[in-house]
Amino acid sequence: MERIRIRSGGELRLKGRVKISGSKNAVLPAIAASLLTREKIKLHNVPLVKDVHTILTLMNGLGAEYGLRRNSLTLQAEKILSAEASYELVRAMRASILVLGPMLARSGKAVVALPGGCAIGTRPIDLHMSGLQKLGASLTLEHGYITAAATRLQGADITFEKKTVGGTENIVMAACLARGETVLRNCAREPEVESLCRLLVKMGGRIDGIGEEVMRIRGVEELGGASHDIIPDRIEAGTFLVAGALSRGRIDLVDAEPGHLSTVIERLRFSGTRVEVKSNRIRVTGGDHILPQDITTSPYPGFPTDMQAQFMVLLTQAGGASIITETIFERRFSHVNELLRLGANIEVSGDKATVRGRTPLSGAEVMATDLRASASLVLAGLVASGETIVNDVEHLDRGYENIEEKLRGLGADIERIPA
Ligand code: UD1
Repeated sequence: MERIRIRSGGELRLKGRVKISGSKNAVLPAIAASLLTREKIKLHNVPLVKDVHTILTLMNGLGAEYGLRRNSLTLQAEKILSAEASYELVRAMRASILVLGPMLARSGKAVVALPGGCAIGTRPIDLHMSGLQKLGASLTLEHGYITAAATRLQGADITFEKKTVGGTENIVMAACLARGETVLRNCAREPEVESLCRLLVKMGGRIDGIGEEVMRIRGVEELGGASHDIIPDRIEAGTFLVAGALSRGRIDLVDAEPGHLSTVIERLRFSGTRVEVKSNRIRVTGGDHILPQDITTSPYPGFPTDMQAQFMVLLTQAGGASIITETIFERRFSHVNELLRLGANIEVSGDKATVRGRTPLSGAEVMATDLRASASLVLAGLVASGETIVNDVEHLDRGYENIEEKLRGLGADIERIPA
């Protein structure tokens, strides 16, 4: 497995311009949505990351054809040839579960492996399953696979016990082809959910309340083709904003969507970082002193769990103690032990991490176990003196397009080396 080597004198100031790619978490459900129609779906601003290739392999296996040219993707699922999403693919990427709703709604049957263990704690899919059951599907679980069947789904009134991004996406997609009206309550309001709904409307879906907690979907007989631009990746953008703040540099983000980053920008400003916003551009200028602060992750529009690890690195360089509370996922602190190896002072107790700054970081060999944890280790490596080796870059490749190239363009000494 490849590794990333970062060399730094500890005083690097990143400078320059970086283009933000399309959102990984928005493109995955959009690709799954193409299973809802026999017509063509065209997606633009598609990030070329490993998770996209994984879901395309899955789509191919189900009978969809696709063509990828630069960052534009054409998909067509004229016929569904197989109903099964294998354990191998679902294990490689949990978001494979997003094919469950569309497959069931389109062809009346779906067989999808249960995701099983995951590096960031237990991540059940009970809300996806109970939602589909309420739409009239019969679900059975055997040999590690869920088999869902229904002749035609029926609209229903469904309240999500807990906000779930993937759960909301799966049920909205299924409800678009159900008979009658579905009301979904306590929906996740993440921009990626909203973006999926906008695509579904272009395909002929009838959805009211997009971007709100309550959505009403009136089922239609058939959906058709559409063309859709994938929104900018707010987590990639947030990662570069932290890179600018942490290195006390100045970075201009282009093709970003500042409106999706309000809480992150607010927290950065609170830390003493200057953030200027102009339409789809964001300029971040790091201050000389980083202020400590307490952060709690919560569903959108709250502080995103996917930015928690990156902010933790920033707070190791703040003048004082900060407390980070992770409320979305259990055990999402796998980066902490690795940051300790780089010299950070962090203590974890339950869902809280106390970060005591400012600690000078020094390069070491570290290992990441999930996507955002890897990103945080790369950020730490940028300001750690000496050489940092991040092992298992596979995680990073799942969600960041050309991250080394982008960081090199900003002046970082970073390269990929063989294991
Ligand atoms: C998505 C994102 C991920 C992000 C997360 C939270 C994608 C591909 N991934 O993941 O990057 O970190 O949202 O913003 O978009 N839960 C249940 N039962 C369920 C489903 C979820 O209890 O059936 C719980 C989860 O364990 C977790 C919480 O709900 O505690 C939120 O999870 P969810 O929003 O579903 O995350 P994902 O869609 O998997």
